[in-house]
Amino acid sequence: MLQAINLSKKFKTKEVVKQVNMEMPAGESIGLIGPNGAGKSTTISMLSSLIIPTSGEVLWDGKSITKDPDPLRKKLGVVPQEIALYPELSARENLAFFGRIYGLKGELLETRITEVLMKIGLSDRQRDIVKTFSGGMKRRLNIGAALLHRPSILIMDEPTVGIDPQSRAYILETVKQFVEEGMSLLYTSHYMEEVELLCDKVYIMDQGEIIAYGTKEELKELVSSNQTIELRVNLVNANFEKALTNQLPTAIVRTEEELLTISMPKNEEPLATIFAIAAENNVVITAAIVKVPSLEDVFLHLTGKALRD
Ligand SMILES: Nc1ncnc2c1ncn2[C@@H]1O[C@H](COP(=O)(O)OP(=O)(O)OP(=O)(O)O)[C@@H](O)[C@H]1O
Ligand SMILES: [Mg+2]
Repeated sequence: MLQAINLSKKFKTKEVVKQVNMEMPAGESIGLIGPNGAGKSTTISMLSSLIIPTSGEVLWDGKSITKDPDPLRKKLGVVPQEIALYPELSARENLAFFGRIYGLKGELLETRITEVLMKIGLSDRQRDIVKTFSGGMKRRLNIGAALLHRPSILIMDEPTVGIDPQSRAYILETVKQFVEEGMSLLYTSHYMEEVELLCDKVYIMDQGEIIAYGTKEELKELVSSNQTIELRVNLVNANFEKALTNQLPTAIVRTEEELLTISMPKNEEPLATIFAIAAENNVVITAAIVKVPSLEDVFLHLTGKALRD
């Protein structure tokens, strides 16, 4: 388990991380979200022993990493926000360079490089020099560099920024697999949908502070305990609307031409009932959308601003 205890960082007089407490238990997948400049990268740098906190501390299995960062470093893979690769070297040569930093050499290094190239889907491009790679391929190689020593905990700082949708999907799928295989993950992003896909628990950071923490479900509870169901129907039928109101006592039904909007508590699952009532009244539902609050809504609710401008 990796823990941040009252972690703060000042650059000159500006405090950019303020009294942050976080927990990353083994095997869990944790999200850290927040807008530009929130302090996410600074927090990650302290968690991974790259910069020293102004106050507070980071514990790895209960022991301070400031005194002895080595036990953590052996288990930790960090994928930095900025791509750090040698453009004139091939993919394989880049990985060899990073592997040696982790103390790997000889046969073992070669085996690990081959293994990592498979994981990041670059085996067929391993001999090509990096400056010929697309943005997405460079990102994948950057991830690969953090995997050579088979870390049990992976910290990723916005690994999908500025790449094409296909590479992004590939990376998300790969990371999802790591998590399923039992890797602990701290995933930073300002794309809510990525965090929703990958993480069990989420920390929301704004202006250096953790302003909310919980499971996705708990955070969404903050916003609303309601769901909205939108139905598109082939004809407007007053009986249908009346029957919905009667049979779903907690629902509020509104009609606007062929669009019906039903608001009701999130813990109920009314779709089967709705379709049955429609059939009884000869109404055909041509589309149905169930809207529950997103983490994006949570952020807006907590800070009064959108996550991305
Ligand atoms: N080395 C530094 N010296 C001075 N200020 C810094 C330094 N590093 C970061 N900052 C400032 O600290 C604040 C937090 O930066 P940080 O990079 O941690 O934010 P972030 O949440 O990662 O943002 P982004 O989403 O843009 O990556 C910003 O105001 C930034 O300008
Ligand atoms: Mg950052």
